[in-house]
Amino acid sequence: MVKIFRLKSIISIKDFEREDVEYILDEAEKLENIAQSKEVSNELKGKILGLMFFEPSTRTRMSFETAMKRLGGDGIGFENSGSSSVSKGESIADTAKMFEGYCDALVIRHELEGVSKFISDIVDVPVINAGDGAGQHPTQTLLDLYTIRKEIGKIDDIKIALIGDLKYGRTVHSLSNALGLFNNIKIYLVSPPELRMPQEILIDLNKTNVEYVVADKIEDVIEDVDVLYVTRIQKERFVDVEDYIKIKGAYVINKKMLEGKDLIVMHPLPRIDEIDTDVDDTKYNKYFTQAANAVPVRMAILKTLIKNNPK
Ligand code: CP
Repeated sequence: MVKIFRLKSIISIKDFEREDVEYILDEAEKLENIAQSKEVSNELKGKILGLMFFEPSTRTRMSFETAMKRLGGDGIGFENSGSSSVSKGESIADTAKMFEGYCDALVIRHELEGVSKFISDIVDVPVINAGDGAGQHPTQTLLDLYTIRKEIGKIDDIKIALIGDLKYGRTVHSLSNALGLFNNIKIYLVSPPELRMPQEILIDLNKTNVEYVVADKIEDVIEDVDVLYVTRIQKERFVDVEDYIKIKGAYVINKKMLEGKDLIVMHPLPRIDEIDTDVDDTKYNKYFTQAANAVPVRMAILKTLIKNNPK
């Protein structure tokens, strides 16, 4: 049976069925050689990707641009609203309309939840949410799942600890929703009380077969997990910096804690101090591989959306 990918835009991982996730991961696997520059591709020759980044990014923006170039296409865009005419008062809607005229697909990052959805409703080209405030980061989740499948050999039947900023962390929100598509998953939610997973995500998890346990300490869960998924406490999301300072440094993974354990350590990055650099040279470190996996996964996303939705 020929598989199809149903979605025109990627706004929330909640729009995905399991088959949609597997479609992208399988496509990404096929594109690994090109992603590693061992082959060349002209699949998207002549196509232009619009990169509208209103919030800072290293990995997401650069890996989307790399992915587009590896497929023979190119990218245009801005890295912050200050370098676009938004700084002169142009609306996001007008800006998106301009990009629609120049590009075959748009990638949007914005500090407000819902901006990608808003833009997808007013343009005809595919729109990809590259992170909207504390909302969703669906393409990060796809590369996280790709990494888990590659490193552990499966996504079903795993135990994962999500650690750190579960309140504002869009990567853990999307990942929790995505894990609900798989079987026999146990999630440990490890955070300070102030940064617990939002109720709406717990309600989503309750509708799936995922078992979740709220925990305060990494030590309470480390013996029982296949994956430690560590996140940064996000200073920029706190209204009062004093609240950030109280919590900062609450969770730190180091090499000694990991010795003898059968697990992998992931992190969407950037890292501040929550994974000691002494973990970098150990077998547990999968966070740099995870970041590199962004290229084949985002190639798969771009190839699929742009080929399925020609202008
Ligand atoms: N993981 C991630 O979204 O990183 P950037 O903020 O650098 O894009």
